[in-house]
Amino acid sequence: MSKQILILPGDGIGPEIVAEAVKVLEQANQQFGLGVELSYDELGGGAYDKYGVPLADETLERARQADAILLGAVGGPKWDTIDPALRPERGLLKIRSQLGLFGNLRPALLYPQLAAASSLKPEIVAGLDILIVRELTGGIYFGSPRENRVLENGERQAYDTLPYSESEIRRIAKVGFDMARVRSKKLCSVDKANVLASSQLWRTVVEEVAKDYPDVELSHMYVDNAAMQLVRAPKQFDVIVTDNMFGDILSDEASMLTGSIGMLPSASLDARNKGMYEPCHGSAPDIAGKGIANPLATILSVSMMLRYTFNQGAAADAIEQAVSVVLDQGLRTGDIWSEGCQKVGTREMGDAVVAALRNL
Ligand code: NAD
Ligand code: IPM
Ligand code: MN
Repeated sequence: MSKQILILPGDGIGPEIVAEAVKVLEQANQQFGLGVELSYDELGGGAYDKYGVPLADETLERARQADAILLGAVGGPKWDTIDPALRPERGLLKIRSQLGLFGNLRPALLYPQLAAASSLKPEIVAGLDILIVRELTGGIYFGSPRENRVLENGERQAYDTLPYSESEIRRIAKVGFDMARVRSKKLCSVDKANVLASSQLWRTVVEEVAKDYPDVELSHMYVDNAAMQLVRAPKQFDVIVTDNMFGDILSDEASMLTGSIGMLPSASLDARNKGMYEPCHGSAPDIAGKGIANPLATILSVSMMLRYTFNQGAAADAIEQAVSVVLDQGLRTGDIWSEGCQKVGTREMGDAVVAALRNL
């Protein structure tokens, strides 16, 4: 049976990095007989320009039918001033929510070759391998009411709402515990339970779920401390489970430990491991069109797709190994460049990974 993959290149550097990831996917397809078939559509600003909405109904339907989705990134200055309900980012939130992709895995892994590219001292980050499990379809991103209004005194006011239901917390906590179980059996739940009601329920429910995982050591940490600990002593963490907004922020922070946001892949999974795969970074308007963006986060997202949705561990391992080979060769895009390395562009980096994969 063929595997249908919907490709959504998106905006900004999205099409540039996705083109490289697709080359790697096609090489893996040949080499491992994966039987993948690709189709393309628009999400985000490109979709707004083409269909008048950031996620067209037909695109959503195609996404539902697909076995997996590969996304570049969405957004950009061109669409920053349009009706907020039609912004590119809304398309991304809608596809995540409509497909029930509540479990977002964001691994921050330092390739040893990149120790010098990290903004932290090599001894602090050497051997770093953290997994952030971010809740992706709830919390303040989706809570209602949400409103912009004018108060009686004429002052403008806006607010968002941060709701979490027990079932939403339980299912993401289980993802965290399941991941911890197959890793170092350590789970840190990050919240703001000293202030927020939603975090207090979060902590209670995580404790309840913990009863089914006596083999996993659970700890809790406030998000402000977690942000500090991530740069003080990041290797104390193995799996972190946290809510939608905290996970968004902490994963960008963690990315710098690995050298660059251009190194961080992600998987967004539903209850049956159907998923959308995308780099954690955005559309990087400041470097779009220059051919210098790092495609590795997107290439590594393809590896996650093969591992989590298609159970093709050998092919997934091979892609990660090919990335390692290319880093051994000293090839670096600007964001991960350091003294003595060879600076390459997006396409050269993609081609090098394809060649390394072919020669494994
Ligand atoms: P960003 O992640 O796009 O860029 C932040 C910085 O990191 C920039 O300096 C950029 O050049 C750099 N960077 C990001 N990816 C890189 C890569 N692959 N290689 C080299 N450098 C890279 O974040 P931003 O500037 O805050 O947001 C820009 C746009 O992207 C906004 O419209 C935002 O809403 C959107 N965004 C989308 C997603 C997504 O689609 N998943 C994620 C984050 C931001
Ligand atoms: C991400 C992005 C998105 C998020 C935005 C673009 C909606 O920052 O995927 O990390 O906040 O989830
Ligand atoms: Mn983000």
